[in-house]
Amino acid sequence: MIVGVPKEIKDQEYRVSLTPAGVEMLTRAGHRVLVEAGAGEGSGFSDQAYADAGAEVVAGAEKVWCQADLIVKVKEPLPVEYPLLQHGQLLFTFLHLAADENLTRALLRSGVVAIAYETVQLPDGRLPLLTPMSEVAGRMAIQVAAHYLEKPAGGRGKLLGGVPGVYPSRVVIIGAGTVGTNAAQIALGMGAQVTLIDVNLDRLRYLSEVLDGNLITLMSNHRNIANAVRGAEVVIGAVLIPGARTPKLVTREMVASMEPGSVVIDVAVDQGGCIETSRPTSHSDPVYLVDGVVHYCVPNMPGAVPRTSTYALSNATLPYVVKLANLGLEGAVRQDPALALGVNIYRGHVTHPAVAQAFGFECVPLAELIPGLGRQPTPVGS
Ligand SMILES: NC(=O)c1ccc[n+]([C@@H]2O[C@H](COP(=O)([O-])OP(=O)(O)OC[C@H]3O[C@@H](n4cnc5c(N)ncnc54)[C@H](O)[C@@H]3O)[C@@H](O)[C@H]2O)c1
Repeated sequence: MIVGVPKEIKDQEYRVSLTPAGVEMLTRAGHRVLVEAGAGEGSGFSDQAYADAGAEVVAGAEKVWCQADLIVKVKEPLPVEYPLLQHGQLLFTFLHLAADENLTRALLRSGVVAIAYETVQLPDGRLPLLTPMSEVAGRMAIQVAAHYLEKPAGGRGKLLGGVPGVYPSRVVIIGAGTVGTNAAQIALGMGAQVTLIDVNLDRLRYLSEVLDGNLITLMSNHRNIANAVRGAEVVIGAVLIPGARTPKLVTREMVASMEPGSVVIDVAVDQGGCIETSRPTSHSDPVYLVDGVVHYCVPNMPGAVPRTSTYALSNATLPYVVKLANLGLEGAVRQDPALALGVNIYRGHVTHPAVAQAFGFECVPLAELIPGLGRQPTPVGS
């Protein structure tokens, strides 16, 4: 198979989808790997490192997109890339389609098979390709919050952890999954008071046992969220319903009840966001104010720390890339139901129920499109 690695073009996106070690694994297995010149630069990998690993380094995105059977990316294609999508091509990347109707329609029109990292799902509900980036984004959310609480950055001028004799900052985290847990760990480690809110009582029970520090856990409901947000200096949105658009749990009135200079970080903005006042921003222009509250809503937070994120992401994606390259799509999804759940679009059909529901498309089960696939599991939690 010919595997293509285009350079990421989203604002300040420095990650790359394959490391030279990953390229070597694919070329040793007999595949051709085309890497766009400069693709690895932001993550510290030179063109020469890819060439030494057996890749063909080619100038220009078009040459990669037009020749590759399998495109492996980090972020979703942007509109300038839509014309490069090839009929029947496999596209393996983060997509977050339920929050992006234009992209969904472009993928349907192009005839590609689009496999979304974030909906590859193991039988127990875990999302193995979202997890590493959620670990990064969760930890980073607290670094970012601490920065924007500082007065010169537009914040209230509070130290996240306080000092002896002075109240620490109050951090409210909505969603106690991977992002929420990692954010809580770092915030607690810095000495903040943390309130974790989730609908999953077992999860809250578990986290209250294993996390050390000034932690409060709360069941998710409108009243608990409103009360917690009112007293918070930092609110972090970390909710996910796999594949679906995020419910808006923090209303505009709740945001208005926060003190000016407080900070809202909607990590879930890539799936539409769980805070009514949030809208996607970029690393170049990351924040804006609503009622004096600083909003940070960057959908590709891990892109800012590519030396960590590229390794973390490719550790998780590479086994699936190798499987797709070795077995082809049909062989790979027959062997691996988790990967089958990643298929959101198959040659003009929407195959993920949550994406179909988001825009009123018919959902065609993958088993009806791939002969002999057999009955597929339904996504957990959607
Ligand atoms: N901005 C970025 O750069 C970036 C990076 C990584 C992940 N993300 C996003 O962060 C979000 C969270 O990802 P994750 O990996 O932590 O997901 P996860 O599945 O591990 O956790 C989501 C949590 O939300 C909880 N939840 C669902 N409905 C809820 C409700 N009504 N109230 C409270 N909690 C509720 C679930 O019980 C679960 O614990 C996703 O949208 C993901 O795409 C964004």
